[in-house]
Amino acid sequence: MNTPKSRTGHLFVLEGIDGSGKTCVCEQLTEILRSENYDVVRLREPTHESQWGKEIREKSPGGELTPDEELELYTKDREWHITTKIQPALEEGKVVLMDRYFFASGAYQSTVLDLHWREILQINREELSAPEPDIVFILDVPAEIGLERATGRSGKANLQFEKLDRLIRVRRNYLEIAEHDISNVKLIDSLKPLQQVIYEIHKIIIDFINNSKSEPL
Ligand code: TMP
Repeated sequence: MNTPKSRTGHLFVLEGIDGSGKTCVCEQLTEILRSENYDVVRLREPTHESQWGKEIREKSPGGELTPDEELELYTKDREWHITTKIQPALEEGKVVLMDRYFFASGAYQSTVLDLHWREILQINREELSAPEPDIVFILDVPAEIGLERATGRSGKANLQFEKLDRLIRVRRNYLEIAEHDISNVKLIDSLKPLQQVIYEIHKIIIDFINNSKSEPL
């Protein structure tokens, strides 16, 4: 696992299908942890900063990229993110909260490519030396609820059906990752009220940080 000695910070990742509530949870958790004097860096992928992140955000919604091009851009964007943001923050002892990370590539890109999520995670771990999170929280909601929360009920019926079909497969991948991946994954029921979800994740994070302080060097 990629946990170099120079890493004194903590890496917590929020994942889930579109409409799972992770962005809202991430924003509010950041505020709470900062009010408790934790030095928090909130990051999200795809980034808004690198040329690759910008290209994904511009072209992906309009379907201008092939699945192979998308995977390549997500990977390049992540490589940039690791080197310029994630690794330095961890070396400076910060608490890094990420809204999506390489688990998203595994869950999403494997639905449109002839690659298993396991292979995509392996590429990130081996070729990018992506730092391993301390905890990955997968916020779980049924695909129908996620789609409704993310897009409302509007839109053409056949397009909605395609999106639903994809989200069902993405959710299945996340559930498999929660069960079988080597990472420390906590599956969170995100149908619960938002404040309860935040309370649960906050408690797990604080307990983890406190326990790691008491571990012998
Ligand atoms: P967002 O809703 O969290 O802003 O993410 C935008 C979309 O990007 C979302 O539909 C999932 C997708 N995505 C991937 O397909 N692969 C990835 O590696 C990442 C980081 C995001």
